[in-house]
Amino acid sequence: MADQDTAVELDAIELLKADHRKVEALFDEYDAQSGKSAKLRIARKICEELDVHAKIEEKIFYPTSKAKAKEAKDDVNEGVVEHQGIKMLVKQISRMSASDEYFDSSVTVLKEYVKHHVKEEETEMFPKIQKSRVDLDALGERLAAAKARLTGASSGRKPVRRAPAKKAAAAKRRA
Ligand SMILES: [Fe+2]
Ligand SMILES: [Fe+2]
Repeated sequence: MADQDTAVELDAIELLKADHRKVEALFDEYDAQSGKSAKLRIARKICEELDVHAKIEEKIFYPTSKAKAKEAKDDVNEGVVEHQGIKMLVKQISRMSASDEYFDSSVTVLKEYVKHHVKEEETEMFPKIQKSRVDLDALGERLAAAKARLTGASSGRKPVRRAPAKKAAAAKRRA
């Protein structure tokens, strides 16, 4: 199902805040679960959400803000560096199984990183951008469009290339 929040016209900051709330709710859901398969499913969802969110911030929101809201430049740079740590953990968690010894602690540390980062964005970076001349409505439209593209791309199955059975067997024999 398409993300419903992309259908509502939110300005850039409203859209990003809605993403933050969604991820926080997923972390709460994760904490409430005890079953490994449920934890794995929710952790993967958190990773997907964070991946898309970081991409639209880094490709669209951060560069535009940096160019048009000079006073937020340091906050944006800090945000980019914080994203590096978040993305590294997301990558690790995406490759883990729920029975991995460090699975739970990795999700816990990711939650702490995200909590810190979201607080800085919402209390320091966003207010400066809101006071600037950034057109948040236009930016919101661009973020929503990018998000729709990225989520569409990630949910759409890539065509699986199957080697014809005979060819594969012949190649194996030759090897
Ligand atoms: Fe964010
Ligand atoms: Fe961010």
